[in-house]
Amino acid sequence: MREKLILEIAKRDGFALTFDDVRLRTSHAEVMPDDINIETKLSRNVDLKIPIVSAAMDTVTEYKLAIELAKLGGIGVIHRSLSIEEQAFHVAKVKHHLNGLIEKPICVYQDEKISSVLSKRESKAYTFHSFPVLNRDNKLVGIVTGNDFDFCDDHSLNINEIMSTQLLTAPEGTTIDDAYRLMCREKKKILPLTNPYDMVVGMYVFSDVRRIKNGSAETYNVDKKGQLRVAAAVGTGEEALERVSRLMDKNIDAIIIDTAHGDSKSVIETLKEIKRNYAIDVVVGNISVGDSARRLIAAGADGIKVGQGPGSICTTRVIAGIGRPQVSAIYDCVKAIGGYSGGIPICADGGIRNSGDISIAIAAGAHSVMMGSMFAGTEEAPGEIVFVDGLQWKSYRGMGSIGAMEKSRGAMERYLQRQRGKNQLIPEGVEGLVSYKGKLADVLFQYVGGLRRGMGYAGAASIEELREKGEFDRITIAGFSESHPHDIKITKDSPNYI
Ligand code: XMP
Repeated sequence: MREKLILEIAKRDGFALTFDDVRLRTSHAEVMPDDINIETKLSRNVDLKIPIVSAAMDTVTEYKLAIELAKLGGIGVIHRSLSIEEQAFHVAKVKHHLNGLIEKPICVYQDEKISSVLSKRESKAYTFHSFPVLNRDNKLVGIVTGNDFDFCDDHSLNINEIMSTQLLTAPEGTTIDDAYRLMCREKKKILPLTNPYDMVVGMYVFSDVRRIKNGSAETYNVDKKGQLRVAAAVGTGEEALERVSRLMDKNIDAIIIDTAHGDSKSVIETLKEIKRNYAIDVVVGNISVGDSARRLIAAGADGIKVGQGPGSICTTRVIAGIGRPQVSAIYDCVKAIGGYSGGIPICADGGIRNSGDISIAIAAGAHSVMMGSMFAGTEEAPGEIVFVDGLQWKSYRGMGSIGAMEKSRGAMERYLQRQRGKNQLIPEGVEGLVSYKGKLADVLFQYVGGLRRGMGYAGAASIEELREKGEFDRITIAGFSESHPHDIKITKDSPNYI
């Protein structure tokens, strides 16, 4: 593994560095920023098209933001200050936003009356019109579509009198790409998947598949079935296992064990229990030292989340005196678990204030970054816009703030607090407002654009290359003030600099 000189010196001399302590060095470049590949991984098996993850916070990630972020290539982590049912609902909203593979299509029987199917469709508020048709042995015998219903006046007929038996089917396991090719070639809009016994085990609908394949689907971060990817946060112990079981029913892509102290017995036991019972990637955090990373990997973690106290709303470092400047924390954890190639992915969580910090986090060894404050002001984040002094704001609060902990046991548990009542809580976060930033897509365009510029200057054609090649200079206070605009009164807002 290639060592980063400045971070090694800092480590040797017993001090730690963060974003504003360093700047990336430029290097010979052979690629243009727009041609750089920024695909990466959240965890062992969960890919990202952009290295961006949204924080599991009640003012940041619910289904609206998670859908938008996955469409732009990243992944959202649905927070856990929701009941198990509510959290599962948010996950399901993301997973069903694009119907890639419909796993359990609603089927009808060939001897059912048309009237009965139509009234079922109305009473259950189905928005679709096509159904696979089965015989009473549950074998596929036909398809009935919106056209078949529209051109039939006699609703007392049986379904088999209007269904089509000219079927296009494909075997279980057919991918969305193969389904699209097949449907285009055969000019069929419905593709049921069957098992060797002619039973229906899934279905693709052309309009959905086309929406995924075309449009801006290039940017979409989707799973193998064509559904948007999403992760969800859990805590520790029995409740966490109950959450995981419910989230698995909704096809969750990754579980995040979301605690302020990831290197603790309860976290490791919960991690082992999840890995024993489920085939799912588990990302564990938060930590800030290499030994913790090693312990979590040994216990089965598929990804590690690094960050103790760098967050914009965090007070852990001042309340508990604990934590580590983020760039050194990332570097130490990455080094501890085997360097820059083939290791378990690291997500750098918290403290990102500008797009340049994303480049720095990755050059220090992270595979992705998690952000809260950068997203809390977007249209898609939970909460309403508030007006203060004629300006637009949205609420943002730490999950260890009084407000968040009073609202949810999950937030209290994240900060290892069992007490009840405002006066007994020891907050490790604050509550406040962030300026309203408009649509996530516009905000992310700037962050990702800034990252691409950074990679271009550093001569890195991929995230892996930036992790390997990125080299830092340590800067002084003079260097810091030189980095920002100076000797000018700024008169016009810039979309990527406040
Ligand atoms: P940013 O800087 O992106 O940080 O706003 C988001 C991350 O901060 C963590 N977090 C907290 N840390 N007290 C803390 O010490 C808190 O109340 C708190 N709430 C969130 C969390 O890791 C998040 O992703």
